[in-house]
Amino acid sequence: MSVLTGKELRIVGFLCNWCSYGGADTAGTARAAQPTDLRIIRVPCSGRVNPLFVLKALMHGADGVLVSGCHPRDCHYSSGNFYARRRLEMLKDFLPIVGIDPERFEYTWVSASEGQRWKEVVTSFTDRIHRLGPAPRWADIKPRYDLPFNQPEKLLEPIRPLGCGENPSLGELKQAIRDALAAKPGADGRKLEGVLGWKRGFDAVHAEPVFMQTPEDVDELVWGPFNVHNLANFLPQYKGRKIGVVVKGCDSKGLIELLAEDLIKRDDVVIFGMGCNGTVSESRIRARLPENAVIEAARGQGATLVVSASGQDFELPMKDLAQDKCRQCVKPNALVSDRFVGRPVTEPEAPADDRSGALRFLDDLTLEERMGFWKGQMERCIRCYACRSACPMCVCRDHCVSDSRDPQWLTQDDDVLQKMFFQLIHAQHLAGRCTGCGECQRACPMGIPVFALKQQFSRMIKNVFGYAAGMDPTATPPLLTYQVEEPNIKERELS
Ligand code: FES
Repeated sequence: MSVLTGKELRIVGFLCNWCSYGGADTAGTARAAQPTDLRIIRVPCSGRVNPLFVLKALMHGADGVLVSGCHPRDCHYSSGNFYARRRLEMLKDFLPIVGIDPERFEYTWVSASEGQRWKEVVTSFTDRIHRLGPAPRWADIKPRYDLPFNQPEKLLEPIRPLGCGENPSLGELKQAIRDALAAKPGADGRKLEGVLGWKRGFDAVHAEPVFMQTPEDVDELVWGPFNVHNLANFLPQYKGRKIGVVVKGCDSKGLIELLAEDLIKRDDVVIFGMGCNGTVSESRIRARLPENAVIEAARGQGATLVVSASGQDFELPMKDLAQDKCRQCVKPNALVSDRFVGRPVTEPEAPADDRSGALRFLDDLTLEERMGFWKGQMERCIRCYACRSACPMCVCRDHCVSDSRDPQWLTQDDDVLQKMFFQLIHAQHLAGRCTGCGECQRACPMGIPVFALKQQFSRMIKNVFGYAAGMDPTATPPLLTYQVEEPNIKERELS
């Protein structure tokens, strides 16, 4: 049936004021016959189109979304559409991971004089959406709750030997920190206020962050498989103060990204680095102990963790306990440090298939199954925002858009769509900035695999821009910049 005569679908169009809106106007003035499904929202520039606008429309009932701006090099604000091109291209590739058909979204360029082209664009896109039919509604999708990639037999084999034994360099590290704390003020006239590290937590298989200021504090420092927290997370709150931090590979990547975004200053931080032999998933330890067992002690013996609980010893291989991110880690050593202690750990080659178990699982699902997967997972979300709090790159803190009431991006309802949209905001804000520490997922008390959303963005950013966050403090994240000619972005023609 012709899109001009068939039943209307809900298509949202974001049109830049200066070109595409003018193009639509030109088409209208010329009385060009067009489908009427499109609901136009006029924006100052395509660069104003936050990808979250598109996501919100698609999640809340739009069957399709079209963004149209001035042709490249013609933007009224000179570069808005260059930024838009990168963001919208990433968005298009992101949509399938949450079960949205990427064909339901398109972006294009139409100038004010191109009335005929506008007619062709809107007809072609509307025709495409009619061929796809009404979009599946979240409310109608059957949720699925399984996490097969978390089953012990499905865990990915680590690409390097992981260990949990005593680190022989811990004493040297403690001495280096004691010396630094005792040192006289440096050339900048400032003395070290303290050093961030880890100490034993509430039981033998937990560590917690500590801010060491005295030699007694330093005595408490631990190094091993329980040092799960990414200490880079705490650095922005000390901005302008001289402090030290102990880092493993993933903490150092967070630190580098904070430097790259000028969220901390290199002169403010003294970095103590070591090599990491992997960290554990606390829930995987718990899952291998009897229910309600009281943990009394834990000691590492090479690649085996011996946990004493309720009067029994349990020998747990590190390869069964390691966090997923540690299984494929190729940067276990601190990438940046003022003092690297001990011998660097051998760095493995990146595997040909570096997808996490969660991404492999999601890749094998249909779009509808993926939507059902996220619906099922988000039903468990308690909106504690631990994922946000644990993320070193989630730096807006009290100004997070998800807490904003004007505009209101989210309600506080106990609603699965609201919860999912929060995760989409988080993932979108980390696109090109996530260093892959996986803290969002580790911190989630409900075990929701939210890291997969960031991993989806990271692999697209790597494929299109060859960029990995947290490697170079002088780099600019790709979505904060642009190239006039984008070698890896193919312009799609709608007309
Ligand atoms: Fe039209 Fe920027 S003003 S895309």
